Amino acid sequence: MNDPAKILIVFGTRPEAIKLFPVVAALQADPRFAPVVCVSAQHRQMLDQVLEIAGIVPDHDLDLMKPDQTLDGLTAALLTGLGKVMDQVQPARVIVQGDTATAMAGALAAYYRKVPVDHVEAGLRSYNIYHPWPEEVNRKIIGTIASLHFAPTDVSAKALTDEQIDPARVHVTGNTVIDALHWVSARIAADPALAAGLAELEARFAGKRIIGVTSHRRENFGGGMESIAEAVRQIAARPDVAVIFPVHLNPNVRAVMNGALAGLDNVALIEPLDYPHFARLLSIAEVMLTDSGGVQEEAPALGKPVLVMRETTERPEGVTAGTARLVGTETSVIVTELFNLLDDKAAYEQMARAHNPFGDGQTARRIVELIGNEIGH
Ligand code: UD1
Ligand code: UDP
Repeated sequence: MNDPAKILIVFGTRPEAIKLFPVVAALQADPRFAPVVCVSAQHRQMLDQVLEIAGIVPDHDLDLMKPDQTLDGLTAALLTGLGKVMDQVQPARVIVQGDTATAMAGALAAYYRKVPVDHVEAGLRSYNIYHPWPEEVNRKIIGTIASLHFAPTDVSAKALTDEQIDPARVHVTGNTVIDALHWVSARIAADPALAAGLAELEARFAGKRIIGVTSHRRENFGGGMESIAEAVRQIAARPDVAVIFPVHLNPNVRAVMNGALAGLDNVALIEPLDYPHFARLLSIAEVMLTDSGGVQEEAPALGKPVLVMRETTERPEGVTAGTARLVGTETSVIVTELFNLLDDKAAYEQMARAHNPFGDGQTARRIVELIGNEIGH
């Protein structure tokens, strides 16, 4: 019997933690592996919310977040910090997820040490390096380095093979976000108190049609955020509607949203929700209005129409299936599209079909099997 292989899992933000906790759990349950978790804490509070619910205690915590951090300052600190951890841990392989600064720097630091990198959620492409910014380039860098590419769908796998990546290294696994969503739904079913914190708001907005909103994209900072805030203000002017908006902790988001929307009767600007409460929001919302990547995957899986406040998406599967629609960030377009959905029952029904192109909830298990084959254990 070989010694368990040391696998270093690197992440730092809320969505990476949500999408990697199923992989960490699957590795921990498998005697072939000795997983080591390193968090950059590129996010602090929003990361800790996920670590707590998932029961993950990191082996290494770089605690790197700074208020309103710049991309270059953050990336420099990540590269040296993660490099030091890799020198100490000496992993056989490194796992990164998605397209954040932490994932890109983690892949680069591993490459500098010639340690193979496995990429979860590989092959997403918008083909526009400024939308989403800087993620489109981050994931291309990771794709250049990666040893195993775990593509969520056929579309993302094809994007990689079109870039001349060896098809034998590309595996369609689904997206671990569906594993996470199944897990959290089962937890809530067993213990509804886990998601009961929205009860007061639900009572306040009883009888109204709930719109869930999230917004945080860097490329929308400034004019885009202001225009999104104005759209939310106009939407909430309808007496039959209420908006629940957990506001991202990025100061560039909070300043605009608090300035434009505080004190409106039909708008609840609230702190970021932990994952069970966000799952509850997804279940009570009639429509999700978002610029998030993860929410574009979760909402269709739950049969919730999602209007995507971006110019382009690297997740075309929801749009193709008709459960997601790109509306950009122009106020009048957002408002018109949302009201159309609320007022046209047939249009709503057409978008509200549960559709799940992103996997069957078995993605983490598949990924661990593929890594096991790779290391020959
Ligand atoms: C980051 C990722 C983005 C991902 C998003 C998910 C990069 C470049 N960006 O964007 O890909 O979609 O996370 O949310 O990797 N902050 C807090 N507490 C927190 C989290 C953030 O105070 O728990 C504030 C801090 O002031 C921080 C700022 O938000 O400096 C920005 O965080 P950062 O990770 O740089 O960018 P995000 O916009 O969150
Ligand atoms: N999410 C959460 N609480 C919130 C808002 C979002 O738990 O208040 C979850 C959501 O379910 C999804 C993930 O965070 O899984 C998306 O994160 P975010 O929108 O910050 O990043 P992106 O997916 O755009 O990278």
